[in-house]
Amino acid sequence: MSEDTSIAADLARPSASELEALAVDLAVSAGALAVQRRTRGLQVDTKSSVTDVVTDVDRAVEEFLRAEILRFRPADSVLGEEGGDQRRAASPVRWLVDPIDGTVNFMLGLPQYAVSVAAEIDGQVVAGCVTNPVSGDVFRAARGHGAYRNDIRLHGPRMVPLEQAVIATGFGYDASHRSRQAGVVAKLAGRVGNLRRLGSAALDLCALATGWVDGYFEGPLGEWDLAAGVLIASEAGASLSGLNGLPPGPDMVAGAHPANAEEFFALLVELGADEVSRRFGES
Ligand code: IPD
Ligand code: CA
Ligand code: CA
Repeated sequence: MSEDTSIAADLARPSASELEALAVDLAVSAGALAVQRRTRGLQVDTKSSVTDVVTDVDRAVEEFLRAEILRFRPADSVLGEEGGDQRRAASPVRWLVDPIDGTVNFMLGLPQYAVSVAAEIDGQVVAGCVTNPVSGDVFRAARGHGAYRNDIRLHGPRMVPLEQAVIATGFGYDASHRSRQAGVVAKLAGRVGNLRRLGSAALDLCALATGWVDGYFEGPLGEWDLAAGVLIASEAGASLSGLNGLPPGPDMVAGAHPANAEEFFALLVELGADEVSRRFGES
């Protein structure tokens, strides 16, 4: 293999750790851009409903991420929340980016929002970074190499009985669907220790990885919401799943300590969380 060919092969099939390092650089720079652009004021538009907001900064940060990915890895595909799917067949790598996860918090000035960047090889997420640019927390993972908050290795949630467990969740932007999600949560409130709705799915998954919450569930989500966070929580040692034996995915992501995960997932099914996300999918 000539030197040029071998460089091209390296570019096309990098290691998980190389992609993780790039994901961290991209997410940290994008987070700094979001914070800096926010000081200039925001233009706010709506998308699927009056509560589904997008700002000019969401769009600018995604454009920045796409341009940077193209600069470092011109053959890769990119899926972003605001700009959609840009497929390039030349590389097995696809990036999944959420330029701002927690846009409502970002708009309000509530310092709980994130940039989420994940990289897949042949359809499997192998690296990811979620950064909260206000707190300075940088969560990262490479498949098989563990998960970290800054340089602290993460070990997942506590093992506590469900009646003591603090569970995070989130709600969608469709009002009638949100009511159905809230119906499940209302029943769950009496069966677990307590509940949190923090406003960023990516950071919820990192909170699970860190042990700041004991469990998390939400569905449906976008692929960009969950890709990096699911890897980070899994690499930290949490059990992540869909419901009814399905893998975690856009329909449903649920996670907890491995010792009580099955009990938690069964409780969610008993309370109809799977039905709610399925009914949304059909509507
Ligand atoms: C939203 C946040 C929120 C979750 C929603 C997501 P966005 O993403 O992650 O916590 O409950 O389902 O859509 O719109 O802020 O990027
Ligand atoms: Ca999001
Ligand atoms: Ca977003």
